[in-house]
Amino acid sequence: MKTAIITGASGNLGTSVTSKFLESGYRVIATVINDHDRSMLPAHDNVVASVVNLMNTEESKLFVQDSIKQYGQIHAVIMLAGGFAMGSIENTSASDISKMTALNFETAFNISQPAYNHMKEHSYGRLVFIGARPALNATVGKTTMAYALSKSLLFKLSEQLNEDAKGSNIVSTVVVPSVIDTAVNRKNMPDENFEKWVKPGQLADIIEFICGDNADAIREPVVKVYNNS
Ligand SMILES: NC(=O)c1ccc[n+]([C@@H]2O[C@H](COP(=O)([O-])OP(=O)(O)OC[C@H]3O[C@@H](n4cnc5c(N)ncnc54)[C@H](OP(=O)(O)O)[C@@H]3O)[C@@H](O)[C@H]2O)c1
Repeated sequence: MKTAIITGASGNLGTSVTSKFLESGYRVIATVINDHDRSMLPAHDNVVASVVNLMNTEESKLFVQDSIKQYGQIHAVIMLAGGFAMGSIENTSASDISKMTALNFETAFNISQPAYNHMKEHSYGRLVFIGARPALNATVGKTTMAYALSKSLLFKLSEQLNEDAKGSNIVSTVVVPSVIDTAVNRKNMPDENFEKWVKPGQLADIIEFICGDNADAIREPVVKVYNNS
């Protein structure tokens, strides 16, 4: 049985991705931010949940080390924890950028570093980061400045991991959704055409494929999942 760590597992995308990996036969080690969020995870014998504040480097490292001690090899790490904020150049402060960087970059860095070190010992692993279109496209990025800057770091981190991993079977991917069709987005953008957005289930299928044996030869991927949005 393969083991995957999934962060942000109780979120809108996280619950779909967790269900998909469980259906595909993985053991899932899910992170949640508090005990209450455990109840939002799919009920399944092969899911275990840990409360971890991913902004805390030491706590995140201990969580990865404990997971390895308890369950052995970690095959995949899917880093979904993150968040969004609006803000243009005129009204974005350095503190806004620090907050977004902690939420979108450090939460992923804090897990990917110990996980990558472990994967190197096995010469095998899959790391999946969730980017965002504003990080690649300044037309949308200029109205979500702190968010776009914080997500842009994930692309560079993934590039550096892939460079370091050359010659092994460790692959880091950035999956880039456009707008995800969630209840929160429907409420905030009621006049948009929801059909153009990407469904959490579509992203879950793609992420599971990327981590599976059929994607074994893919290297240095950035996967744009925009649907028609
Ligand atoms: N929604 C979109 O349209 C969209 C588009 C492009 C990219 N993305 C990215 O896709 C990912 C998932 O999005 P989503 O809509 O599923 O978001 P979500 O529902 O807010 O899920 C994110 C999860 O991460 C958790 N989290 C936040 N900070 C944490 C921390 N310090 N430690 C541990 N857990 C923490 C959240 O817990 P709490 O809820 O309790 O804070 C939540 O469960 C995010 O990285 C997001 O930036 C989303």
